[in-house]
This record gives sequence, C-alpha cells and structure tokens, in this order.
Amino acid sequence: MTENQKGKSPKESAVETRYLVMPQQANPHGTAFGGAIVAWIDMVAALAAQRHCGKEVVTAGIDSIIFKEPIHIGDQVLLKAAVNYVGRSSMEVGVQVTREDPYGGNKVIATAAHLTFVALDENKKPTAVPPIVPQTDAEKKRYENAEIRVKARKELLKKIS
Ligand SMILES: CC(C)(COP(=O)(O)OP(=O)(O)OC[C@H]1O[C@@H](n2cnc3c(N)ncnc32)[C@H](O)[C@@H]1OP(=O)(O)O)[C@@H](O)C(=O)NCCC(=O)NCCS
Repeated sequence: MTENQKGKSPKESAVETRYLVMPQQANPHGTAFGGAIVAWIDMVAALAAQRHCGKEVVTAGIDSIIFKEPIHIGDQVLLKAAVNYVGRSSMEVGVQVTREDPYGGNKVIATAAHLTFVALDENKKPTAVPPIVPQTDAEKKRYENAEIRVKARKELLKKIS
C-alpha cells in the first residue's frame, strides 16, 4: 500500500497557532480588519491541507466565513484548522478562530470558515490525496456535514460554469 492510499485521521494533520492582534491589523473602528483574519485563516488551513497530503496545495475557494464576534487590538487569537473531508484531489478544511482576552481570560469563538484546497503534482495538475479517516464522534460529524457542503458546492459550480 502506498503512502497516498493509506488514510489519515484529521488529528494527524491538524494545526493550531496563535497571533496577537496588533494595531496594524485593525480597521478604523479599532477592531481587527477582516482581511487580516482571512489571511491567517488561509495560512493555517493551507498548512493542515499540506500536512494531510504532503504535496503542494492551492486555495481553490473560501466557501464560507462567518464573523460572529469582533476581535480587539491586544487580543490573542487562537486558530485551529483540521481537514474535514477529501475528494480525489480536493480537501475541505474547517477553521475555528477563538478570541482570547489575555488578562481576563475570556474566550469566545469569533470566526469560523470552510476552505477548499487542491493538491498539485510536479506538473501543477490536480493529484490524488490520501483518504481522510475520521475517528472521534466530532470528526465523524464534521465529515458528514462537509460531505453535504462539498456535494452542494459541486452542483452549484456545475450550474454556474
Ligand atoms: C484549483 C485549481 C487547481 C483547480 O483546477 P481545475 O483544472 O479546475 O481542476 P479540476 O476541475 O480537475 O478539479 C480538481 C478538484 O478541485 C475541485 N475544485 C475546482 N474548483 C473548485 C472551487 N472553486 N471550489 C472548490 N473545489 C474546486 C474539484 O471539485 C476537484 O475536486 P476532486 O478532485 O476532489 O473531485 C485551479 O482552478 C487553480 O489553479 N486555481 C488557482 C489557485 C490559486 O491561485 N489560489 C490562490 C493562491 S494559493
């Protein structure tokens, strides 16, 4: 069995990272600029996708992003990314962004996003990725929900292209 046929659990490629929100990441209202948060999300999600497949990956789409709560200058931001689902060459990655007040310790889920990455071969063509094998109940639920989104997304892309 080759490395690419072996399945991997979401935990094996999951990525967690932290940033401190600096004044240069703020909008004129003094809260974090959405574009800065999106750049962090894209980076952490790409790292999880790359760890899953061990290949070059590109962002094919940012499928949903919800800004539930504002993030403030001086907050710590914890980003957690995990591969939810894979197709042949594509991987859906979910990212959860938690805002943490470093002094009061208050933690709030501020942002959630789903992104699709595609693995490329040496000729920059889409190439097969290893299967994803969800293990825990939470991973299984994320897999099932992602499967519904991926099917709906493919249908939509077919209709509009
Ligand atoms: C993403 C990209 C490689 C897809 O190439 P393509 O020739 O359309 O590839 P295919 O039609 O064979 O599709 C390959 C996979 O991508 C998926 N895909 C393609 N476009 C997609 C989109 N907009 N959203 C989600 N998935 C997409 C397909 O469903 C397919 O998935 P599967 O293999 O798991 O079934 C190509 O569009 C590309 O290079 N885009 C630019 C990427 C980029 O520059 N990103 C920003 C910087 S990283």
